[in-house]
Amino acid sequence: MATNTGSVPASRQVFEMSGENERIIVTSALPYSEAVPHIGNFVGSMLPADVFAKYLRMKGVDSISICGSDQHGTPIEIMAMKKGVDPMALSNEVHEEIKKLLIEFECDYTHYGKTDSEENKETVYELFAALQKNGYIIETAGRRPYCPVDKRLLTDRFIEGTCPNCGAEDARGDQCDTCGHLMDPEELIKPHCAICGSTDIEFRETKNLALNFPKLQPDILEFVKSHSANNWSKNAVNKTLSYIEQGLKPRDITRDISLGFPVPVPGFEDKRFYVWFDAVIGYIGITREWSKERWQRYWKNSGTKLIQFMGKDNIEFHTMMWPGLLIGANSGYVLPHTIIAYEYLNAKGLKFSKSRGRGLNMQNALGIAPADYWRFALVHMLPESADTEFTIAGFAEIVNKIMNDKIGNLVNRVLTLARNNEALLGSSPEGARSAAVDAQIGEYSKNFDAIKIREALHNVIRIAELGNELMSAEEPWALAKKAMASEDASRRFKAAMASLIDTVHVLGVLLYPFTPKASLQTLSYFSSEGEPRLGMLSESAKLARGKEVKPIFSKITDVEIKKMEGFSTME
Ligand code: 2FM
Ligand code: ZN
Repeated sequence: MATNTGSVPASRQVFEMSGENERIIVTSALPYSEAVPHIGNFVGSMLPADVFAKYLRMKGVDSISICGSDQHGTPIEIMAMKKGVDPMALSNEVHEEIKKLLIEFECDYTHYGKTDSEENKETVYELFAALQKNGYIIETAGRRPYCPVDKRLLTDRFIEGTCPNCGAEDARGDQCDTCGHLMDPEELIKPHCAICGSTDIEFRETKNLALNFPKLQPDILEFVKSHSANNWSKNAVNKTLSYIEQGLKPRDITRDISLGFPVPVPGFEDKRFYVWFDAVIGYIGITREWSKERWQRYWKNSGTKLIQFMGKDNIEFHTMMWPGLLIGANSGYVLPHTIIAYEYLNAKGLKFSKSRGRGLNMQNALGIAPADYWRFALVHMLPESADTEFTIAGFAEIVNKIMNDKIGNLVNRVLTLARNNEALLGSSPEGARSAAVDAQIGEYSKNFDAIKIREALHNVIRIAELGNELMSAEEPWALAKKAMASEDASRRFKAAMASLIDTVHVLGVLLYPFTPKASLQTLSYFSSEGEPRLGMLSESAKLARGKEVKPIFSKITDVEIKKMEGFSTME
């Protein structure tokens, strides 16, 4: 049995399906599969990509979302070495763990794949051959650090030292995690071997293959200028322009390591492709792994928008190396449309860094609070324009004061009132939705379309606040008591409840990208099934009768807070 809460007023938001040719590929930066990602990694790319992909599906856009494990590179070799295991075995095992955790975090990408796949290898070779043919691959000879103790060249993370740019003492041979500076290992101050700690570093001559960035520079600049108006985050634009201003140098795409795809060039048989070369190409490889019939429909189509989420340390690879190699290969793949790079979510002044073992990882986070709570709180803290400090008190405040008090209580009170007064409700008057709620719904869509995810969450919170304001102003529980004796009270009760029930329905729909479980639970009190659609907001909400009401959120307990305190100080 359903209660009609009134027909839909003409002023309501009407959601349009996207244009016929519009297709969107959403990607999240691919986590290295040497260990389970930390909450800082999760919030920096995987979570916002999933939130945005869910929004697109609600809107009815033809879209796919792609993520997967980054399986090559020195982080994996180093961890395997520490554990005394085979790097690929470790990587495959951790890949399965991450995949499982992402499902537990309610991230349902179209495909969560791997970079070490036949499909990716084929794509890497195809693009490399095209780059070679088009004259964008050059040979470089240079001095690379060598550890006489371990008797090996120290590529990328195998060498550590002080960053010449920001002074951080834990910079790596290819990049400083603190300031994002890309570097040559020779630039490191006080370099030491990450395997044995030796400071007795030699530099040896070795040759590699590189992407000819100086030749690509004008095209990359043109690309940044023409694409960055598509809602790129400011840091992505500024950092890239500043790199280009300094003049791009050739960047090696091969390494003296054993992990990765072999280099199909005589004289380079012992080398492997640099992890970042096959990682960015991995977005295509993973889509091919998903479907050999459908991948081209997205990747080789001028109507496709490629929207990419990442942490700020990934900017250069996505704004220069990735478009650079796509432009150079000229193989008809879409270029990135939007680059969204988040700042860092720090904990106690430290970036959550899984390779350094600090902070909460995705696994132990779920032992503290359910996925919905993390998703909501982390989006609320999303470091869109500045580094943000994660604090336990901040997390608890979001859960207790916003999720529980503002949203959960409203949903619970309205549904309980409706359930206890089904006879009084009958059919309700029209015009149940206020202009203020309607405006917030409009802003929600605008914010999402501009990829301002945190702001879209604020619109949801504001809608709950409007509901709470109406609740306090009308006191429907008091009206219900008077309704039998007073026609005016009965009319006001129905009007207030029609509006409140509609608000709860709106919340149920709009919460979906952020807290899918709570959203579906809320919508289960209405006669609706499956994944919500924005179009549902233009239809009238039909409340199902007789269903027992259970809270969608609850407060975080002291026990949970204690558990969290244990993790956040973990070294
Ligand atoms: O920084 C990282 O964690 C990388 N594994 C991100 C790769 S993103 C993409 F290019 F694959
Ligand atoms: Zn630095």
